Amino acid sequence: MSNSPQGRVTVVGSLNMDLVARTPRQPRPGETISGHGFKQVAGGKGGNQAVAAARLGAHVAMIGCIGDDSNGAILKSALEAEGIDCTALATSTSASTGVALIVVDDASQNSIVVVAGSNAEVSPADIAEQEALIASADVIVCQLETPVDTVRAALAAGRRLQRTTILNPAPAAHKLPIDWFPLIDYLIPNELEAATLSGVTINKPDDARRAAEMLKAKGARNVIVTLGSEGVFALLDDGTASLFQTQKVEAIDTTAAGDTFVGGFAAELARGSAVADAIAFGQRAAAIAVTREGAQPSIPHRHEISA
Ligand code: RIB
Repeated sequence: MSNSPQGRVTVVGSLNMDLVARTPRQPRPGETISGHGFKQVAGGKGGNQAVAAARLGAHVAMIGCIGDDSNGAILKSALEAEGIDCTALATSTSASTGVALIVVDDASQNSIVVVAGSNAEVSPADIAEQEALIASADVIVCQLETPVDTVRAALAAGRRLQRTTILNPAPAAHKLPIDWFPLIDYLIPNELEAATLSGVTINKPDDARRAAEMLKAKGARNVIVTLGSEGVFALLDDGTASLFQTQKVEAIDTTAAGDTFVGGFAAELARGSAVADAIAFGQRAAAIAVTREGAQPSIPHRHEISA
């Protein structure tokens, strides 16, 4: 883990209020089941990755949009409490803040329904307006919970300004347009997203390798596939392909584990660490996150990560 000065990370992405029910199992279609716990916590893939990058060692700025409501105010205060620069966080006058309905079962699996709300209003014009925040960052991080034109504009600005770009293609509903790939320095899908983007069903690390090869051939410089408890498969720019094993832990809630990995990886990369070290750092952070409940409350701080 690098002790060099903090790097700068700008996150373009979503903020959601997560409404989380704990249940014995996932409900079937049409079924009502009893939960045994409920919490309302700060989430959204963009917000989670921003908080992770900040707690794990970076100066962070967030480009996004909240509604003019109590959820938006809570989410903004949560980012500000982490020292995240929120000057580029817009407030919608018409849409309410994004929400996510999350069911976490006793096997620690989750299912999530996201209602985008104000996240749908982050526009390419916002990216143009906030170009200084892109130009001043070492690393730009995007996901797919804001409009696709906006994500593309952010990646293109990052490329033009010679910043390092990361796309966590989550959630991946369909394949990415081919002209996106050359804009991406680090494409970080989980196994489902890698399968959607590549068409390769992923059951074992060898499948992840095939998917990564296909995605790299489309033009992404590096492809890093997160495989949950199976580890992380990385196919890098220099041609190296490695499976990074994950520390075995007792998971109670995997929500935001991927976000913690992405934020930790981005923070470490922004400090100038080698890619392999940044991957290992992100893994150690994610291994802690899965032992805690909720999205942002589960994300560890840098001092908790062992060297
Ligand atoms: O990745 C986890 C996140 O996905 C949750 O916090 C929820 O808001 C959804 O965006």
